[in-house]
Amino acid sequence: MGTSRHTGGSDAADEGDAESDGDAGGGFPPGPSGLPLLGNTHQFSRDPHGFYETLAGYGDVVGYSVAGQDMVTVLHPDHVERVLVTDADSYGKWQLQNFGTSFAPNGLLFAEGEQWRTQRTLAQPAFQLDRVRAYGDRMTAFAHEMAAEWGDGDRVVANERFSDLTLRILADSLFDVDVDADGRGEAITRAADELNRRADSSSATAFVPEWVPTPANRRFKRAQADFADAVDELIAARRADPEGHDDLLAMLMAAGEDGEGMSDEELRDTTLTFLFAGHETTSLALTYTAYLLAEHPDVRERLEAELDDALGGGPPDVLDLPALDYLDSVCRESLRLYPPAYVIFRETREPVELGGYRIPADTKMTLPQFKIHRDGRWYDDPDAFRPDRWTDEFEADLPDYAYFPFGGGPRHCIGMRFARMELKLVLATLLQRVRFDYVGDEPPQPTMAASYQPEGDVTFRVERREG
Ligand code: HEM
Repeated sequence: MGTSRHTGGSDAADEGDAESDGDAGGGFPPGPSGLPLLGNTHQFSRDPHGFYETLAGYGDVVGYSVAGQDMVTVLHPDHVERVLVTDADSYGKWQLQNFGTSFAPNGLLFAEGEQWRTQRTLAQPAFQLDRVRAYGDRMTAFAHEMAAEWGDGDRVVANERFSDLTLRILADSLFDVDVDADGRGEAITRAADELNRRADSSSATAFVPEWVPTPANRRFKRAQADFADAVDELIAARRADPEGHDDLLAMLMAAGEDGEGMSDEELRDTTLTFLFAGHETTSLALTYTAYLLAEHPDVRERLEAELDDALGGGPPDVLDLPALDYLDSVCRESLRLYPPAYVIFRETREPVELGGYRIPADTKMTLPQFKIHRDGRWYDDPDAFRPDRWTDEFEADLPDYAYFPFGGGPRHCIGMRFARMELKLVLATLLQRVRFDYVGDEPPQPTMAASYQPEGDVTFRVERREG
């Protein structure tokens, strides 16, 4: 941890308390002042969304400090493009260990350099178009099974049910494993919950290093250990019975056999990464989409009409998707308002220039989709759910990185195609059979956890559309 440039502000530092210790002439970017040592940590953890609102008042490249780290937030699509794409080599992944926590450091999400390149190359074939298409039938079948269990008037906790569903789909498609059969699913879901709780920036634990034996940290470590055990068992079971599998795990393991490719640790970390990154995100997208449809009956009815017309009550197929334009717009708009991966983290590898400011090496950066996706400069009525806005003309005029739910550049989401298809096939299956009526008094409140988790459960009353 370096000495923060943003710890020398006044004690009265508050959200509205502007300080400009940077200047557009090439210094560190300006931003809100903070307390000695703590920087802006208290403002951030008290109200992370409000804090980002404050940052936006300082411009498109904003400097501040959290937990002793200099931080920069980027709020303009052109700067996002520079960081993720044009100058991608100058920006590394933000290694979470710096904040006292670790999750699968040798997996695809956090690996760097040659290690990352090797893993990405090994995993890529599992996400090619023809492969991903082949997963479609199972996505539809699992969604159908879930809908069949729901009776008219049942209450369902969407974030839980969708998490079970997406984990089941992912484990089946990429690891040829039935997570329901042997209780592994529970260890994985619990670890994902703990990881989210641990990372929630508004919780007191977010900035306490992992080695401090708080009850939350102990729970987190135990859950991580169980998750790792579940993955070790999965790998051991496959090693004992390697024949007849042609999935992501087979690709990753085959690479290790000739002495090239992955160590056991990398294999475990990458498997952990896929199991986590590949199910929580899509589950959140389903949860928020169901909520948005429940609150917008006009959109829901139009979507139902499109599905009924195109599918006539039958199971959707990958080949049906190109005809489902409105479903595509609904998913796009939902990922705009509630991007499950709500912020992209980077760290400068060398001094860089961005937006007229100088940013030293080792500065942490955030590129917040949740904020840029709701910027009135790019979106009319930015908080409104309006799938209709996604016309060809609108997209042609939209700056490239005003919308980036799956990131961009070399580290963009490897599962993007898989996730988009899953989202659409699951929705097309469910919405032909059920309606979701939201039963909460308040809209779901997204939290800044490891993903954009709602605070508490998102519960719906299910209404069956067919007999
Ligand atoms: C709606 C669902 C999803 C969203 C919004 C999402 C979003 C993202 C984003 C924004 C990144 C880039 C992170 C960065 O640049 O630091 C990313 C990376 C990644 N995602 Fe996804 N993702 C989703 C689904 C999936 C699925 C289904 C899988 C796997 C099957 C997956 C696996 C990964 C992996 C392994 C990476 C790291 C890639 C690399 O660094 O090379 N994601 N995802």
